[in-house]
Amino acid sequence: MLLPVTREEIGDITGRWRRAGETVAFVPTMGNLHVGHLELVRAARGLADHVVVSVFVNPLQFNDGADLAAYPRTPEEDRALLEAAGVDALFMPDAAVVYPHGMAEATRIEVPGLSTILCGEFRPGHFAGVATVVVALFNLVRSDTAVFGEKDYQQLLIIRRLVEDLHFPLRILGVATVREEDGLAYSSRNRYLTPTERRQAPELYRALCGVRDGILEGRRNYSSLEESAQRRLEAAGFRPEYLVVRRAADLAPAESGDRELRVLAAARLGKARLIDNIGITLRA
Ligand code: PAJ
Repeated sequence: MLLPVTREEIGDITGRWRRAGETVAFVPTMGNLHVGHLELVRAARGLADHVVVSVFVNPLQFNDGADLAAYPRTPEEDRALLEAAGVDALFMPDAAVVYPHGMAEATRIEVPGLSTILCGEFRPGHFAGVATVVVALFNLVRSDTAVFGEKDYQQLLIIRRLVEDLHFPLRILGVATVREEDGLAYSSRNRYLTPTERRQAPELYRALCGVRDGILEGRRNYSSLEESAQRRLEAAGFRPEYLVVRRAADLAPAESGDRELRVLAAARLGKARLIDNIGITLRA
């Protein structure tokens, strides 16, 4: 596995592949890799001749300094997992490589609208930080495809939007959320849970499933479904930020004619902020 760290090193590697007519799939991450990340790598391997994974804990997307300082960093374990997964190159740049003029003055990418709702409302500036780093990484790596998880559904939509708006010659692949046996989505933040909280945590997924089942049974009063699911989370010890039924395509409030829906939630449990979402397709 190649280990580029500079702009020139990553550019030379993918440039060589491109000139040989070989395709590249790219999986951006913040490291502390788990089964969910490795599923993206597996999907990437099926799409292209070469897979590049980046590990970069992007300070620009953390609106809370304590959250950034506490974010788990496990570079040696990450490297071993990616080597075993058959990744061709692991790109681990410093902030000075990604942001050549420093972070304060870095050119920003903003996706209006989509970035200010749901998680964007509770984490101001977060999605501008994500959009900015993703564009910088796309230009450093220059892949044919980039792979993202549906676990971060709002992030996935924002990235699809910016790729269309800015005409990136890039295909975006979304991969279904990978869950533990009890339904909890794999996340680097799960390690903040105490053993008791860990036992409560799957209630987030079960609350989403409860809303989905209600809708599939024909209930259409979305706000009453949302409210009872939020109360269910509170009863399980969560502090919900939001739990909503939205239109899957653009996260606008769902209306009666909409057939593709998404139920999305964010809730705090102890020290952890957990997010999750599931899709619903209604028959015409
Ligand atoms: P990170 O949280 O490390 O996630 C990297 C990728 O893994 C994202 O596309 C995320 O959606 C996906 N992922 C995480 N948990 C998953 C799960 N349980 N199942 C499926 N996919 C999962 O998301 C980021 O990093 C950053 O915002 C980033 C895009 C790298 C920009 O800094």
